[in-house]
Amino acid sequence: MKNKDYIQANRIAWNQTAPIHRKQTFEQLFLDFEKAGYTCLDNIEKGILKEIGVSGKDVAQLCCNNGRELLSLKNLGASRCVGFDISDAFIEQAKELASVADLACDFMCTDIYEIPRHYDESFDLVYITVGVLGWMPDLKDFFAVVKRLLRPGGWLFIYEMHPMLDMFDEEAEEFGKLRHSYFKQEPYAEEGGLDYYGNTEYEASVSYWFHHKVSDIIQSCLNNGLRILSFHEYDHDVSSVFKDMEKQEIRPPLSYTLTARLLD
Ligand SMILES: C[S@@+](CC[C@H](N)C(=O)[O-])C[C@H]1O[C@@H](n2cnc3c(N)ncnc32)[C@H](O)[C@@H]1O
Repeated sequence: MKNKDYIQANRIAWNQTAPIHRKQTFEQLFLDFEKAGYTCLDNIEKGILKEIGVSGKDVAQLCCNNGRELLSLKNLGASRCVGFDISDAFIEQAKELASVADLACDFMCTDIYEIPRHYDESFDLVYITVGVLGWMPDLKDFFAVVKRLLRPGGWLFIYEMHPMLDMFDEEAEEFGKLRHSYFKQEPYAEEGGLDYYGNTEYEASVSYWFHHKVSDIIQSCLNNGLRILSFHEYDHDVSSVFKDMEKQEIRPPLSYTLTARLLD
C-alpha cells in the first residue's frame, strides 16, 4: 500500500469512530465548555504551556480531533487558533463545540501532509497531543510540515504516548508481555475499531498505525531545524488504552513531552 492509501483508510476509520465518541463525550464537553475559561488539560501540559507562554500566540493543532484541546488553549489566552484534522466528522464536532463554547477557533479538514501553503509561517506554536505521530506514515515529511507552519523562533510542543508502548498488545491476554520489536518498520493493521474510550464493538474498517522510535522523532526534529529544549518521560498513561500499566510496580515509560524551537 502507498502512504496515501494508508491515510485514506485511516480517514474512513476515524469518521466511523466520530459518532460513537460524540455519544460518549459531548454531553459532558458541552457542560464543561459552558464554563468560562475551562480547559481539559492536565497540570503537566498547563505547566509547559505556561513556560512557553501561550497567551497571545497563534497556534496550530495538528490532528485536533473534536477540538477540545485547542479550545482549551484558546481559553488560556492563545490568539489565532487553527485545528487541522483529516476526519470531516470530527471537524464538524470541533466547530459545534467551538460554537457552544463561544470561542473563535478555525477548524480545517485536511490531511496534515496537505495543509495548504498559505498557512506557511503563520504560527508561533504547533501543538501535538496524544495519538498523533503514530498515524503518520512518514515522520520526515511530517516534521517538514511542522517547520513550514512555524514562524522563525516558533515553538513545537508534543505531549504523546511513549513509542515503547507499541511493543505491547493491549488486547493480548498477558498484557504486560513484550510482543513486537522496538525496531519494527511495517505498520500495525488495527481491525478492532478506534473506540479507545468505550471499546465499542462495531464493524470497523481497518486502520494503520506506524511505530516511530524516540530517536526517529528527535532526529526528525533536528533535521528540520527544530532545536530541542526539553524532553521528559513519565509513568502515567495519556491514552486511556494503557491505564492498567499505571498500576504495575515495574512499568515502561508511558508518555513523554518534547519542546523545541525553530531556529531563527
Ligand atoms: C487520537 S486522535 C487525537 C486525539 C486528541 N489529541 C484528543 O485527545 O482529543 C487522532 C486524530 O488524528 C487524525 N488523523 C489521523 N491521520 C491524519 C492525517 N493524515 N491528517 C490529519 N489528521 C489525521 C484523526 O482523524 C484523529 O482525529
